[in-house]
Amino acid sequence: MLALRAGKIIMSDLASLEQRALTDLRACTDEAALRAWNTRYLKGEVDQAMKRIGELPPADRPAYGQQIHALKNKLSSEYETALAKAKERALARSLASDALDVTLPGRPARRGRLHISTQTLRAIYTIFADLGFQVYRSSEVEDDETNFGLLNMPEHHPARDMWDTFHTTKPGVLLRTHTSPGQIHVMRELCPKPIRVILPGMCYRYEAITTRSEIMFHQVEGLAIGERVTMADLKGTLIAFARRLFGDRRKVRIRSSYFPFTEPSIEVDMDCIVCAGEGCSLCKKSGWLEILGAGMVHPVVLRNGGYDPERFSGFAFGMGPERIAMLSYAIDDIRQFWANDLRFLQQFGT
Ligand code: FA5
Repeated sequence: MLALRAGKIIMSDLASLEQRALTDLRACTDEAALRAWNTRYLKGEVDQAMKRIGELPPADRPAYGQQIHALKNKLSSEYETALAKAKERALARSLASDALDVTLPGRPARRGRLHISTQTLRAIYTIFADLGFQVYRSSEVEDDETNFGLLNMPEHHPARDMWDTFHTTKPGVLLRTHTSPGQIHVMRELCPKPIRVILPGMCYRYEAITTRSEIMFHQVEGLAIGERVTMADLKGTLIAFARRLFGDRRKVRIRSSYFPFTEPSIEVDMDCIVCAGEGCSLCKKSGWLEILGAGMVHPVVLRNGGYDPERFSGFAFGMGPERIAMLSYAIDDIRQFWANDLRFLQQFGT
């Protein structure tokens, strides 16, 4: 700090400031240290010393002003030179360390993989393609009439309670609760031709999430219509599918069931791979896990699709790929599918 002594500034104070500043500048080895030096000296002590000109007797001001300006110019120039050198050194260091060694072996890029649901869907498509089924897509947003009404569930039909629904803000428009409304779309598009299609896609249900039930999940609907399609065709198709997917040794169980859009209706269960039929939380202690619902297309639905039930008959099924994947890989909690945990997802596929 400069000293004002009886109105006179001792010029030797400037000399000592110069001495200290230069010594410190030489000790700075990198850009950060140099910038700190700049703050302390050029923007600090030297600046303050300049502001003090006004405190001096007028007679002393010219000499002092000359000295302090000379000091400022000298230190600024030393600082700029040191800064340029430090930058050069940093650049040289970075060029040396970042140099590309073309002889080094490459690092393999980590590849992503398909989600387990996509893998399962593709396995299902392959099997049904071999059985002569084409893929048909229909919308995830449906109207109430197609999701329920045309499938033989008029308004207030108690069976609507089987599917708790996410409604949109637009009256009568909802997220489909199952892929079955696709049956109506495909029938109306292809009538009166014979049909053999699968309709895969996401479904949404406003229900409690458990180890085996999610609020969003895939389904693959199947629909076959012709002049002589029978229950035996349905059974044969589903058993051929289950054998191809799970192998000959897994058990398949067919139970009678109820769906408003099929008559008669069945459900197909596989033996639970997690507990080998012993009973666990996944299979609700039953040893079996339901993978699909099916049946012969109800005459009312055939008619709604444009087909004459006196002439045509058909079968339909709706299966859950996530349930099928759980059975294939012994996954005991469906919530894993959409939890986005890479540790889970990376276990499936290459
Ligand atoms: C239906 O959705 C009917 N539309 C199936 C059908 C189609 C019957 C054609 C007859 C003819 P269900 O609600 O049982 O039925 O569902 C069918 C399959 O979807 C189930 O067997 C199961 O594999 C899967 N699934 C159903 N609900 C869920 C859920 N919350 N989470 C995961 N998978 C589910």
